[in-house]
Amino acid sequence: MSRYEGKSVVITGGSSGLGLAAAQYLVDNGARVLVTGRNRDTLDDAARRLGDNGIAVRSDASSLADIEALAGRVRDVFGTADALVANGGIGSFDPFFAVTEQTFDEVFAINTKGPFFTVQKLAPLLSDGAGVVLTTSIANQTGWDALSVYSASKAALRSMARTLSRELLPRGIRVNALSPGSIETGKLDKEVPDKAAALKAEFEQSSPMKRWGHPDEFAPAVAFLAFDATYVAGIELVVDGGESQL
Ligand SMILES: NC(=O)c1ccc[n+]([C@@H]2O[C@H](COP(=O)([O-])OP(=O)(O)OC[C@H]3O[C@@H](n4cnc5c(N)ncnc54)[C@H](OP(=O)(O)O)[C@@H]3O)[C@@H](O)[C@H]2O)c1
Repeated sequence: MSRYEGKSVVITGGSSGLGLAAAQYLVDNGARVLVTGRNRDTLDDAARRLGDNGIAVRSDASSLADIEALAGRVRDVFGTADALVANGGIGSFDPFFAVTEQTFDEVFAINTKGPFFTVQKLAPLLSDGAGVVLTTSIANQTGWDALSVYSASKAALRSMARTLSRELLPRGIRVNALSPGSIETGKLDKEVPDKAAALKAEFEQSSPMKRWGHPDEFAPAVAFLAFDATYVAGIELVVDGGESQL
């Protein structure tokens, strides 16, 4: 029997990058996985890749109405879920004086408010003993250039791994944060095409391993926190090639 056979998992922002790699890993190990995203083409590609045990649902993490609709869909498809990975997020690379109110609100709406209400609305559907994983970032630990809003949005999320764990542990539900360092998903090319090459070179140079990580190196950590780490609650596990530690 496969390791996660019979388990049902919801991954927001699972249509590409780290979320899709985690979804693929869990499907390959027997789980059924529902992934979300906003772009229909990307969702269709993800559904094709994941096969019969993957379901792709359009849902914007910054919309309460979409989150509530997602909860209804999860109830219809799975009944209950054994793990929830609130992974969807966007970057922003604006120097402090260039940050607009619109950017600030959008980044916090997707990176912080979205995961908060996703956990709130889906928690009633989580099985007792389920694992919740919040994707943060090592940017929440230090002061990087042009990352003030992004880093703060992820620092707030890291805090929620503690507080939400406290409130959900009476049902045995553990909430933990998973913090990627530089992992190549094409994210920078998408979000800041004019700066991507320089940023990639800079992060590669500052990495103790002198390389970017691969999404497949992130996926097992999702499964670990979601299912295997039964005596772990409120932590932030870093997957960053040592960047934040060495
Ligand atoms: N890769 C890294 O080096 C790195 C480092 C630190 C932290 N992270 C974090 O890891 C997570 C995944 O990043 P990634 O590198 O895999 O990025 P990615 O390839 O751009 O994937 C992001 C995923 O989130 C979805 N998404 C974005 N906004 C959304 C919204 N409003 N509602 C629903 N889904 C949304 C995207 O789909 P749509 O665009 O179709 O909505 C996509 O599925 C993010 O939270 C990111 O901040 C990544």
